[in-house]
Amino acid sequence: MKVDELKVYRGLIDNRTLMTLYSLFNKGIISEIIGIIKEGKESGIFLGKDKNGDKIAIKVYRTVASDFKKMWKYLIADNRFSKIRKDKTSIIYSWCLREFRNLSICFNNGVSCPKPIYAKNNVLLMSFIGDDNPAGRMIDTLVGKKEYDFIIKQIAKIAKSGIVHGDLSPYNILMHKKPVIIDFSHGTSIKSIFADEMLKKDIQNINSYFNKLGTSTVDTDRVYEKIITKVKK
Ligand SMILES: Nc1ncnc2c1ncn2[C@@H]1O[C@H](COP(=O)(O)OP(=O)(O)OP(=O)(O)O)[C@@H](O)[C@H]1O
Ligand SMILES: [Mg+2]
Repeated sequence: MKVDELKVYRGLIDNRTLMTLYSLFNKGIISEIIGIIKEGKESGIFLGKDKNGDKIAIKVYRTVASDFKKMWKYLIADNRFSKIRKDKTSIIYSWCLREFRNLSICFNNGVSCPKPIYAKNNVLLMSFIGDDNPAGRMIDTLVGKKEYDFIIKQIAKIAKSGIVHGDLSPYNILMHKKPVIIDFSHGTSIKSIFADEMLKKDIQNINSYFNKLGTSTVDTDRVYEKIITKVKK
């Protein structure tokens, strides 16, 4: 697919985004865009290839139709982004950069998540999760106690890395041999005023999903306390 052909994804790819993608091609960071994997509310994910011909996922954040006010509120509560400007461009670029930073920290601490490759403006490159096809979401897959325990461990690892995912659900977990956590854009510093509330919600979302499946779970408050005491050590 030629970069020009991406113009069909109006509403997702504006002229500035096209320029960003061109620059990533010119730098040799992207060698090919194969097609779209999924168009979501906040972003579109494309399948591409890096300079070695390995598959990569290209996440393009929408520069329109996002709730910028809400994003700004959460960003400035994160000490890493407390000083950002309030215009839409600054907000969306910071949102993308924050996902990149969150992924970098988590990946380096051994969390099961895509490997971040590069971030520029509203475009984030990461390793592709899947084989011939993209991995399915956990919500569409059969899972049980083994996956539950694994995910709770990941939440703890993420917290130990100083981050709270903040949007954890069976929609943001892919199944590729084991659960792989994606979509770290809401991920905030554990020091954010929203961190406690978000951590509890992440645990609660996972607990209610596995409870519905009939998997035995550990009480949300207990998991929360256990994680928090370890983080404070
Ligand atoms: N690294 C990846 N490898 C393979 N597929 C991916 C990858 N990242 C995302 N996807 C696919 O793209 C979808 C959307 O990704 P993500 O959740 O990061 O974006 P989003 O803007 O929150 O989208 P949505 O509105 O659907 O939640 C995922 O559900 C998954 O199917
Ligand atoms: Mg998502």
